[in-house]
Amino acid sequence: MILLLGILLVLFMVKVYVISTIFAEEIKTIQKRDPAARSVFEVILLYQGLHALIHHRIAHFFYRKNHFLTARWISQVSRSLTGIEIHPGATIGRRFFIDHGMGVVIGETTVIGDDVLLYQGVTLGGTGLEKGKRHPTIGNTVVIGTGAKVLGNITIGDNAYIGANAVVIKDVPPNSTVVGVPGRITKQDGKKIDVSLDHIHVLDPIMQTVEALEKRLDALEKKTKP
Ligand SMILES: CC(C)(COP(=O)(O)OP(=O)(O)OC[C@H]1O[C@@H](n2cnc3c(N)ncnc32)[C@H](O)[C@@H]1OP(=O)(O)O)[C@@H](O)C(=O)NCCC(=O)NCCS
Repeated sequence: MILLLGILLVLFMVKVYVISTIFAEEIKTIQKRDPAARSVFEVILLYQGLHALIHHRIAHFFYRKNHFLTARWISQVSRSLTGIEIHPGATIGRRFFIDHGMGVVIGETTVIGDDVLLYQGVTLGGTGLEKGKRHPTIGNTVVIGTGAKVLGNITIGDNAYIGANAVVIKDVPPNSTVVGVPGRITKQDGKKIDVSLDHIHVLDPIMQTVEALEKRLDALEKKTKP
């Protein structure tokens, strides 16, 4: 019995060593981006985002060798264990981090750059039953807030920030912040965008009309005040 426990312990330590070597970059990223992560051991043991990524790297290997059933099986086992569903076909860059994780879905033709951070409940999905490239392409250093949905074959530019619960269905230029449903750009290159003046990044024409009406109403109220 003691011998068996000893063997299991050694196997476990070997596994921890292998993961900490192969996924050193990702572990460092987690420690950098999540102040709650205190040690490498804690990250390896408890971070579902890391577990999902490890499973995905293995599933993606089988997917690329055309072993689609094995790949999907690994991906589904991972989903049961982590609550994160990454299709084995998805291409994911370096230092990827899914924080909290539960409820994340990443579609088959998604392409994700380096240093991307997703929070729980993010969907990188398709919009219908179309075939071919039907999921988003996410640039480098993009952050996608909790519950956000990024849908269709669109491109999210480098350094973009997608706000919590946004629904994004159109391309997003680099260095922009997008919020709302449907997503509208509120900031670009560090500058706030006045939606009423912006005719290039029109993502929500209804919102613009409402805002224009609001301004006219304010002006009328001021005029008619005694
Ligand atoms: C979008 C976000 C990054 C804020 O970016 P910011 O550039 O600092 O934006 P501001 O706070 O200046 O807000 C700009 C406008 O967008 C609105 N806004 C901000 N976040 C929003 C959101 N998620 N949904 C809708 N509107 C939002 C603000 O009310 C503000 O509106 P106003 O100009 O009419 O007053 C942030 O609010 C967010 O959603 N972060 C996600 C964080 C997350 O998911 N954390 C998970 C932890 S577990």
